[in-house]
Amino acid sequence: MDSIDNLISALKHSPENIPLRIYLANLLLKEKRYNEAEEHFQIVVSEDKNNFEGKFGLAQTYFHLSKYSPCIVILEELLEKEDNNEQYLLLISKAHLKENDIYLSREYYMKLIKINPSIQSHELDTVLRSSSNNNHQEEIDQDELKFIEKPNISFADVGGMENVKEEIDLKIIKPLLHSDLYKAYGKKIGGGILLYGPPGCGKTYLARATAGEINANFISVGINDVLDMWSGNSEKNLHQIFETARKNTPCVLFFDEIDALGASRSDMKQSSGRHLINQFLSELDGIDSNNDGVLILGATNTPWHLDSAFRRPGRFDRIIFVSPPDEESIMTIFKINLENKPCENIDYKVISKKTSKFSGADVKAVIDIAIEGKLKESFESGIPKPITTKDILKAIKRHKASTTEWFDSARNYALYSNESGLYDDILNYLKIKK
Ligand SMILES: Nc1ncnc2c1ncn2[C@@H]1O[C@H](COP(=O)(O)OP(=O)(O)OP(=O)(O)O)[C@@H](O)[C@H]1O
Ligand SMILES: [Mg+2]
Repeated sequence: MDSIDNLISALKHSPENIPLRIYLANLLLKEKRYNEAEEHFQIVVSEDKNNFEGKFGLAQTYFHLSKYSPCIVILEELLEKEDNNEQYLLLISKAHLKENDIYLSREYYMKLIKINPSIQSHELDTVLRSSSNNNHQEEIDQDELKFIEKPNISFADVGGMENVKEEIDLKIIKPLLHSDLYKAYGKKIGGGILLYGPPGCGKTYLARATAGEINANFISVGINDVLDMWSGNSEKNLHQIFETARKNTPCVLFFDEIDALGASRSDMKQSSGRHLINQFLSELDGIDSNNDGVLILGATNTPWHLDSAFRRPGRFDRIIFVSPPDEESIMTIFKINLENKPCENIDYKVISKKTSKFSGADVKAVIDIAIEGKLKESFESGIPKPITTKDILKAIKRHKASTTEWFDSARNYALYSNESGLYDDILNYLKIKK
């Protein structure tokens, strides 16, 4: 008590001594003399607009005086400067709770727990945990978040494939970005794109880049995973996946190995397989729900196994052949993958000429082989050397294009079950006359 009085008289002699005033104000706060504390903190803040300690003191004082809105205003300002300050987060969470804004209170509290899992506020714990009367929902949300990605690659990271990028842009990106315009012209939006082609040529990579291109969320679903899940639950899981995408728009929803579904329709005669397909088709159609903002892409190596029901309008009504990259694209893929690696004037023209039928994945494999060789040399000689054109050419010789096998069987489908020219692109690529 005495010391407080002493401080007050000391301040009278040097009223501009801010550290002294803060010291006093904090003591008053501790002694629960809130009105006086408020007065001194206010002086501090008005004299020095950047005094965080003074501001936080004032916020604490306001809290005790039940002046919650000015308390929150100050804390928001402080959090802008320092968004992971635990004290600020705790107090703002409490203030929102007092204001009965449970949602915001929770949000700040969650943030706090993330920063410091050991934090414990009994008060917040009991109220916030019980108020989320379905803790269960929280768990589901957490689960969902696990498989949502935010890819950091875009079209620029994909070499070549200009025609495919353009189709994706026209068919699903533009409608998403300019949906009003499409609606004004009465143009129907919806439907997805099915990418098909030999392995390793960038289908999955491009799907991921599509999401990155428009800064959308990305969910990749392996159909085999869905099938593997406890069979009775497959439909529910599939529905859940679509719902997650709808809740997190804009979202690219990507179905990999989609042929696994088609195959199940003809091969598995059990009704469970058919149910799953029907579920999938009706989710695609968006009959009971709205797929606005959900971009649907699928990929397969064997489109011929897919039931034609998948290709009806509004479903996968665009089927695009993703061929092995041409010389120009191979060059780009080499460049993208050699960037940031120690190289010495690589002659990209020369190496690209030697890699016909190579997939993007093959190119990566070649680079890996070259690097391994280089590492071995470095260990032997003790001198690290950059990768050269010769190293790459040597590696190319040791690697066999992985797309040849695919074309061997694709050729037959394209020749003998090419309904309405669906696989003409394959024939064109192989330069086979129709
Ligand atoms: N056009 C490309 N530009 C850059 N990198 C590419 C390109 N194509 C393929 N790649 C590289 O090759 C890897 C394999 O490609 P990806 O997994 O997308 O092939 P895929 O067509 O989905 O194959 P699969 O049919 O086996 O699923 C990618 O991760 C990427 O690093
Ligand atoms: Mg793939």
